[in-house]
Amino acid sequence: ALFLSGKESQIGRGEPIEDTARVLSRYCDGIMIRTYGQDEVEELAKYASIPVINGLTDFAHPCQVLADLMTVRERMTRLEGLKLCFVGDGNNMANSLIVGGIKTGMEVSIACPAAYRPDAQIMQWASQNGTFTCTESVEEAAAGADVVYTDVWASMGQEEESRQRMAAFAGYQVNSALMRAAKPDAMVLHCLPAHSGEEITEEVLEAHAQEIFDEAENRLHAQKAVLVRLMS
Ligand code: NVA
Repeated sequence: ALFLSGKESQIGRGEPIEDTARVLSRYCDGIMIRTYGQDEVEELAKYASIPVINGLTDFAHPCQVLADLMTVRERMTRLEGLKLCFVGDGNNMANSLIVGGIKTGMEVSIACPAAYRPDAQIMQWASQNGTFTCTESVEEAAAGADVVYTDVWASMGQEEESRQRMAAFAGYQVNSALMRAAKPDAMVLHCLPAHSGEEITEEVLEAHAQEIFDEAENRLHAQKAVLVRLMS
């Protein structure tokens, strides 16, 4: 494995992604890229002759969702027909959970403030392809949920908006009151790092630590599966 930080890669010195894609394609069997703009990943994939894996962008986090779905299936033995509720920012995690959840036959509900909804096209696709709701009401979204999921209120690169986001998301915490709306045996997942006391209470985090750290471990296994699928 070769790790190139933004500074070490030639992209950091202004090399067009198109050229970096062609150079790395001569050295490697695959590229995983973690960046901000989804367009950068797509540009890299367009010009690379080897598999390009989205390791997180502002728009999507598909690798995390593979681990999440694996964790739900391990515990619940199935995905189809379960209700997955995401509470918080309609961010990269929300977008990818909607896609992964709907594709595997889950019902997906999102609770978020109106100004922080997931991507409009993804929501439209979800409504046309499965059972999907997006509401400002956490009680409504969490009602009867089998899985409750949350993520930080300020994602990577949004640290300067933290204060404003803390205010906007104040009513969107996964706490014991919210969990009472979900099924009694509902799972709680978090892609980590968690900010306990913000998007999740310490009480809920600790009560569901087994699931959350199984989920963290499953990043390893799900990503091995991605490599096998793309490169073996
Ligand atoms: N929404 C978070 C996910 C971290 C796994 C971020 O982009 O920082």
